[in-house]
Amino acid sequence: MDSSHIQFCLDKSKIDLNQILQLLQVGAFWAKSRSREKMEIAITNSNPVVTVWDNERIIGFARATSDGVYRAGIWDVVIHPDYRGWGLGRKLVETVLTHPDVNRVERVYLTTTNQQSFYERIGFEPNSSTTMVLYNHSPLESIYQQELKVKAEK
Ligand SMILES: CC(C)(COP(=O)(O)OP(=O)(O)OC[C@H]1O[C@@H](n2cnc3c(N)ncnc32)[C@H](O)[C@@H]1OP(=O)(O)O)[C@@H](O)C(=O)NCCC(=O)NCCS
Repeated sequence: MDSSHIQFCLDKSKIDLNQILQLLQVGAFWAKSRSREKMEIAITNSNPVVTVWDNERIIGFARATSDGVYRAGIWDVVIHPDYRGWGLGRKLVETVLTHPDVNRVERVYLTTTNQQSFYERIGFEPNSSTTMVLYNHSPLESIYQQELKVKAEK
């Protein structure tokens, strides 16, 4: 398949949130029911955010968060099922890794359930012993409730 017309875009203002939500729904098992509001916040607070385009259609997405010097994390890497196996996933991750917010940090982390081989080909190493997680249940909802309470008290 000739994928030479496929474009990689770093401009967040071009992002169509509806298309991103649809892409996550069909291609990313951990993000099937993301809300528009929360994804908008996640995109605003991530850099870079990379989208992959087939003409007007978004067929790939990835984002990173970074402190600019020590640590960065890559999140929500996905290529639409119809476009997999063409080298686009590798190019997507490499576009994130070469961005100035990411390419100077000491370590880039990501979590993956079953794509270890894909990331190993790009240069990542298994790191199973150092990762811990806190499940912060409904953090946004509680912040909204707190803000509403403060407003009501004024
Ligand atoms: C993982 C994903 C992004 C890969 O995208 P892709 O466009 O199919 O990958 P590419 O065609 O760029 O493949 C790059 C290399 O990885 C290999 N590869 C891709 N998927 C692989 C897999 N599941 N297992 C082993 N190798 C894989 C390819 O053979 C290729 O190897 P090569 O460079 O030696 O030829 C895509 O399969 C996807 O969106 N999966 C669902 C979402 C997901 O699991 N994302 C990762 C979450 S952490």
